[in-house]
Amino acid sequence: MSLLDIRSLQRSEIETYIREAIKYRNACTSGEPVPQVSGTVCLLFFETSTRTRASFESAARKLGLHGSFVAPATSSIQKGESIRDTVVTLDYAGVDCLVIRHPSPGAPHQAAEVFDGGVVNAGDGCHEHPTQALADLLTIISRKGTVEGLTVAIVGDIVHSRVARSNAWCLTKMGARVRFVGPRTLLPKDCSLLPVETCDNLAAGLSDADVVMALRLQRERMNGYDLGGLAEYTQRFQINRESLKLAKEDVLVMHPGPINRGVELDDFAADSTFSAIHNQVENGIYVRMAVLANEFDKLRGDA
Ligand code: CP
Repeated sequence: MSLLDIRSLQRSEIETYIREAIKYRNACTSGEPVPQVSGTVCLLFFETSTRTRASFESAARKLGLHGSFVAPATSSIQKGESIRDTVVTLDYAGVDCLVIRHPSPGAPHQAAEVFDGGVVNAGDGCHEHPTQALADLLTIISRKGTVEGLTVAIVGDIVHSRVARSNAWCLTKMGARVRFVGPRTLLPKDCSLLPVETCDNLAAGLSDADVVMALRLQRERMNGYDLGGLAEYTQRFQINRESLKLAKEDVLVMHPGPINRGVELDDFAADSTFSAIHNQVENGIYVRMAVLANEFDKLRGDA
């Protein structure tokens, strides 16, 4: 039970999520009835979100699930209730599946220890964001036909990125080569436990890249750390009309969002036909339908 990270998944489990997501996408886009699931899901978000929240809500609605949203500012967390007590309370309040976003790595794992139903990690600090990686994988497969053998350059603030870590595991398990590209200060100090190459030069990092995934500078996680000149960062690492020429001619541009336009991406990279950013958001709905349906299958003992 529970989807807490990509690292511990088998390739066959990732393939099942993608296969199910494609079935949901086909049903939703052709107007066929979507098999309905009965139960309740609660989104417990300790950090802001637009696309993850909206797509989980959309996924739950399309599956016929009852949903609720709990955030610190409008819940008893504001009165000092701990995460543990909040999660146990939601369990007794009849929630079957908990989707949790939290700034601390491992918070969803802690929630899963005390929650009887399914727990889905919607992003925990700098650790993982498994449903984003599944959405990104589905997007690459849909636009490129396969991910096997492709070179994916993930560029920017890698050290603070849960998306980079989940994608590193997800894409390499599926046969891609993943390269982390950024200034040394924004690359993890020790990448030896991750299945990636690293590069602190954009030209070398983008060479032969089939996919370029740009990341936002996560200033909220920098804790006063001095990034140096933003202009210098932008000049060295921005993905734009010029720097895209360093990658393959048919390169796919991705970004998990939210974008800081003019910093990690220019308008051309974000909005041209090279861009798959809107596909990533839309595919996020279908992978989250697959993930939620799987949690409820497991609760019913069908999986
Ligand atoms: N990609 C992502 O997690 O975006 P949000 O923070 O808007 O949910």
